[in-house]
Amino acid sequence: MSLKLSEIVPFGRSRREYELMFNLSEEDCQQLILGCGDGPASFNAEMTQAGYNVISIDPIYEFSAKEIKRRFEEVVDDIIEQVKATPKNWTWSYHQNPEDLRQNRTKALNIFLSDYEKGRQEKHYQMGALPHLPFESYQFQLGLCSHFLFLYSDLLSLEFHLNSIQEMCRVAQEVRVFPLLTLSLQVSSYIEPVREAMAKIGIQSCIEQTNYEFQKGGNQMLRFFRA
Ligand SMILES: C[S@@+](CC[C@H](N)C(=O)[O-])C[C@H]1O[C@@H](n2cnc3c(N)ncnc32)[C@H](O)[C@@H]1O
Repeated sequence: MSLKLSEIVPFGRSRREYELMFNLSEEDCQQLILGCGDGPASFNAEMTQAGYNVISIDPIYEFSAKEIKRRFEEVVDDIIEQVKATPKNWTWSYHQNPEDLRQNRTKALNIFLSDYEKGRQEKHYQMGALPHLPFESYQFQLGLCSHFLFLYSDLLSLEFHLNSIQEMCRVAQEVRVFPLLTLSLQVSSYIEPVREAMAKIGIQSCIEQTNYEFQKGGNQMLRFFRA
């Protein structure tokens, strides 16, 4: 089960947003990090620039920089209008208002695009899609997934989530997922079934508060680790 490019919001977040969403410490940043579904986030570009090691995997990396930019430009006005039309759904703290949101997303996209071709050659950006990851077991210390799993619970099945998180836990010693809300601001009904299934195969989990909240109530992440 996969999403089509037309169903995906090609919005990317910055390194600072990733640090806040995932409670990333300096020690975390020094690990070899896998970002699943990083899309046009500037996390990888900014981390690489600062000397850290991040590999991002996303089906969108099939497309050229031009195509990703075009897709962003096609949808950005509509998304900002949707945000403006639903003021009660958002917490304006990191982003000050809808225009600030647009500027922050545009800035992240531009930083990503300026790094993309070189990063693809150096394999920092690899085309691939959950629930299958082309990596060795425990190749990474930390696996991150922002605004993909759980968020699209209305489009992606429980089975897809179970397989994806199990696969992320195969390739990374620890996995963090943010947010736990769906697009309609409900806590995903998959959270508990996924936690229970993972516990049965020896992978513990905990929910942690974070200092990032844009979707109202979306300030928690889920961590998976081996006891
Ligand atoms: C809303 S964007 C989030 C981008 C980034 N993680 C961030 O938070 O800024 C969702 C991303 O999930 C990616 N995606 C879609 N299907 C996927 C799959 N099967 N495996 C991994 N990523 C996928 C999309 O291409 C898109 O880049």
